[in-house]
Amino acid sequence: MSKVTHFYETFQPEHYDIYLDINRGTKEINGKTTISGEAKSDRVSIHQKYLDIQSVESDGKQLSFEKDDANDGFYVEVGQPGNVTLTITYSAKLTDTMMGIYPSYYEVDGEKKQVIGTQFETTFARQAFPSVDEPEAKATFDLAIKFDEQPGETILANMPEVREENGVHYFDTTVRMSTYLIAFAFGDLQSKTTTTKSGVKVGVFATKAHKANELDFALDIAKRSIEFYEDFYQTPYPLPHSWQLALPDFSAGAMENWGLVTYREAYLLIDPDNTALDNKQLVATVISHELAHQWFGDLVTMKWWDDLWLNESFANMMEYVAIDAIEPDWNVWELFQTTDVPGALSRDATDGVQSVHVAVNDPAEIDSLFDSAIVYAKGARMLVMVRSLLGDDALRTGLKNYFAAHKYNNAKGSDLWDALGEASNLNVGEIMNSWLEQPGYPVVEAKVVDGKLTLSQQQFFIGEGEDKGRQWQIPLNSNYDAAPEIFADKTVELGEYDQLRKDSGKPFRLNVGNNSHFIVKYDETLLNDILANVDDLDSISQLQLLQDLRLLAEGGQLSYASIVPLLSKFADSHYNLANAALYQVANNLKKFVTPDSDEEDKLQQLFDKLSADQVERLGWTPKDDESNDDQLTRPYVISASLYAKNPDAIASAHTLFEANKDDLASLSADVRVFVLRNEVKNFGSEELFDNLLEQYRQTADASFKADIRAALTSTPDKSLVAKLVAKFEDAGTIKPQDLRGWYRGVLANNDGQQAAWDWIRNDWQWLEDTVGGDMEFATFITVTAGVFHTPERLAEFKEFFEPKLPTPGLTREIKMDIKIVETRVKLVEDEKDAVNKAVAEAAK
Ligand code: BES
Ligand code: ZN
Repeated sequence: MSKVTHFYETFQPEHYDIYLDINRGTKEINGKTTISGEAKSDRVSIHQKYLDIQSVESDGKQLSFEKDDANDGFYVEVGQPGNVTLTITYSAKLTDTMMGIYPSYYEVDGEKKQVIGTQFETTFARQAFPSVDEPEAKATFDLAIKFDEQPGETILANMPEVREENGVHYFDTTVRMSTYLIAFAFGDLQSKTTTTKSGVKVGVFATKAHKANELDFALDIAKRSIEFYEDFYQTPYPLPHSWQLALPDFSAGAMENWGLVTYREAYLLIDPDNTALDNKQLVATVISHELAHQWFGDLVTMKWWDDLWLNESFANMMEYVAIDAIEPDWNVWELFQTTDVPGALSRDATDGVQSVHVAVNDPAEIDSLFDSAIVYAKGARMLVMVRSLLGDDALRTGLKNYFAAHKYNNAKGSDLWDALGEASNLNVGEIMNSWLEQPGYPVVEAKVVDGKLTLSQQQFFIGEGEDKGRQWQIPLNSNYDAAPEIFADKTVELGEYDQLRKDSGKPFRLNVGNNSHFIVKYDETLLNDILANVDDLDSISQLQLLQDLRLLAEGGQLSYASIVPLLSKFADSHYNLANAALYQVANNLKKFVTPDSDEEDKLQQLFDKLSADQVERLGWTPKDDESNDDQLTRPYVISASLYAKNPDAIASAHTLFEANKDDLASLSADVRVFVLRNEVKNFGSEELFDNLLEQYRQTADASFKADIRAALTSTPDKSLVAKLVAKFEDAGTIKPQDLRGWYRGVLANNDGQQAAWDWIRNDWQWLEDTVGGDMEFATFITVTAGVFHTPERLAEFKEFFEPKLPTPGLTREIKMDIKIVETRVKLVEDEKDAVNKAVAEAAK
């Protein structure tokens, strides 16, 4: 389909009156929606999906209408262009798809309960009420909701409730906004509220399955994030309240509905007495991400879905800017370096990857836009580049003008570049377009040729790639003044190397701070110079060094074996980032060894050597006054020593288990997962297994649940694996929102892999029926490809997925994933011997 059908071209709504009567018992929704707006022709198109439309009226007259399910719409004969008010009466069903209006299921004290919530992004508002369901079609909304209400229940929406009459809850008229940001929810909820300096009411809401103090952390972060953004954006938060609501069933991670942000429970609620620092950082950044959208996305919205990157990349950058400002001790940009950056650099190196900006011609393509490593992580990196080019003063001025110019309206990427360009006198659009419109990124080769320091750029690929001669405008961030600020040519010569080296007194480096989206390949002279001075490098530079070398090795540009001897240089580092990078490389070595082989023994010895002193230094119990780096490093080294089968580590974990047997949730969240996993792996029994699975069912604590999942999926007992896989389709045990994590866990377990792989192939249809409409669907393929590394699995992977290539929304993912597994299999074949030799050497 080539013609873009925007319904907005036929009908421009101004105002909606939405009445909904929702019955949880019968799962029936009866609705009446009145839309006033301007018809642009005598026949208008309105979105609906799964709505049973009974009548369409205007001025008391019935109008004829025609449904078009293929295009999620219906057409109404309005007679002539001009202002019109349509009243549509319809009915619909509550579904269990986590889209539209849907129930979440939970239990309190053994009683089964439901909370009703909504998820309308991207195109699910049309399942709740007839509408022109496109981001550009902004309007105001009056919402009125009736439901089978029980005493004490709470109902929430974008705006405050203004009155209740005959069991109908009426909410205040919204500001001008897009349909995908409408939200409401009701159920038996608890809450905590506070008020920002500027008078915005902030609240956190959750079911009563949680302890009240689990809401405190989120409330504090939400309040301070809003205060931060009001100041940073120089633009007030425009609504009376900002509610954060945790829903027990949620398909995405969180959703920025204006004034009523919804979250997975795991991303909002935190036990203040027992939560690891990395989990707090994660929850804080999710909250600040969604709150960044209240302006960037909600107040000013992308005109069409092709600029979705604009929403998400921006929020992804701002989540770090905000948390770094309100919790400076966390150094949260380090988290960006260990999560977003490697994700973007790996994914973006595969030929066939999408560019950040992608044209969306067919509305059916909208959901396949969401390659998070690109749209979120690479996009955020691009904006981080912009931020470091502009500086915060110009960025803020530009943003303020951008909000002022487009508030309650829509914008395109180019509008942002224009605003930032004006504030900074830089041609931001020109620099950014090379990153935005082209897939991939460059490797900059730095070498000394005939005594001259020279740079060249070329697209970097992991696996086969067609070199199309792409070039980027690269902010080099060198520590040598001789390097240009922006490197846009193919090659550049910086001058006599010896002289430059002498003048500067330090090794030559590029991309200092690792904020530009490229990697560096130094020649031997330059690399050895850096390595000889490695202790002078800050933590980000240490991570970057190992990360770039690893990527170059994955891309076949240097031998993997050559990195192995470098690991011990970092093993005793007190920097979390150095350890993160070190163990990322080390864990990547596991693919080169056959399970239960002599090679694996050697790798375990190496892990032991790398981790032993650190485990000794840090211990199993977090100390009150220890540094953030120590807290964040502990999991890496403990995990390594358990992989190494270090007898002391196994015994320590077992002792902790025994001591906390009766209240496993109370084990320190910093080490709980290792204790549980160790128990299942080394002291497991069916009884333990059943007991943990039952605790999984019972607990409402998402981080405890995640730890139990990690433990159970690692069982070496094939009959228990079978028992687990048999639960995959039992929503009473494993919610569909959590299934991918279970699947991945079993697949990554050598003793479970066959069962998980058989399951997904046999029950693909069930999976498609259950999560098929969801963006998460394609990521079941991604995680499978992330695990496989043998020729046998590659062949099976192709055999199963190649016939699915024509499936809409899966084509690109399958193509890329086949390439990813092929590349890994070849890497292992080519380098296995050399790597294992280097491991044996390094383990000595
Ligand atoms: N707007 C998105 C969620 C979304 C995206 C819903 C596309 C439906 C379609 C939200 O702001 C978001 O980015 N959520 C993230 C969590 C986040 C903090 C990175 C998610 O859901 O993964
Ligand atoms: Zn977002």
